[in-house]
Amino acid sequence: LLSHCYSRGFGVKTGNMDARTGLIVLLCLMGFTWAVPVKYADCGSAAGTVTIVDINPCPSQPCQLHKGQSYSVNVTFNSGVESQSSTAVVHGIIGGLPIPFAIPNADGCKSGIQCPIQKQQIYHYETELPVKSDYPSIKVVVQWELRDDNKKDLFCIRFPVQIV
Ligand SMILES: *[C@@H]1O[C@H](CO)[C@@H](O)[C@H](O)[C@H]1NC(C)=O
Repeated sequence: LLSHCYSRGFGVKTGNMDARTGLIVLLCLMGFTWAVPVKYADCGSAAGTVTIVDINPCPSQPCQLHKGQSYSVNVTFNSGVESQSSTAVVHGIIGGLPIPFAIPNADGCKSGIQCPIQKQQIYHYETELPVKSDYPSIKVVVQWELRDDNKKDLFCIRFPVQIV
């Protein structure tokens, strides 16, 4: 998209702007506020398939999380199972060790997911990640799981962040 912005969008004369170029210019302008999908690693989503991970705002990666601010997390996944419940479990991996990380609401069914979860449905898990001011300024890999009734992972993702 970015290369299009420079080669087509910004270089074009407005006189012969066609619909497609107009659209690209529009997308380029939107690009400045757009959430870019976060690069993540799948750590064994046994009961589902992750398609998109969004963190907002995160203009460059790894995401820089500012102390005292709150970030929205949006994980799009396809469920492979039925489940009445869904529970989020978050760890920060520091020096190879997973440290439990408290989030305000661990209930996935209150985080954008309509429960019971049905098989082969697409869900958006949407929640807030508050970054407390007493966190240390470190780089950390966040491991975010959403577990089903049987404690199997509807998703398990890992992504690096930098607390600043
Ligand atoms: C979460 O992501 C999905 C897919 O990109 C999008 O359709 C949905 O609107 C997003 N939800 C929020 C609250 O941004």
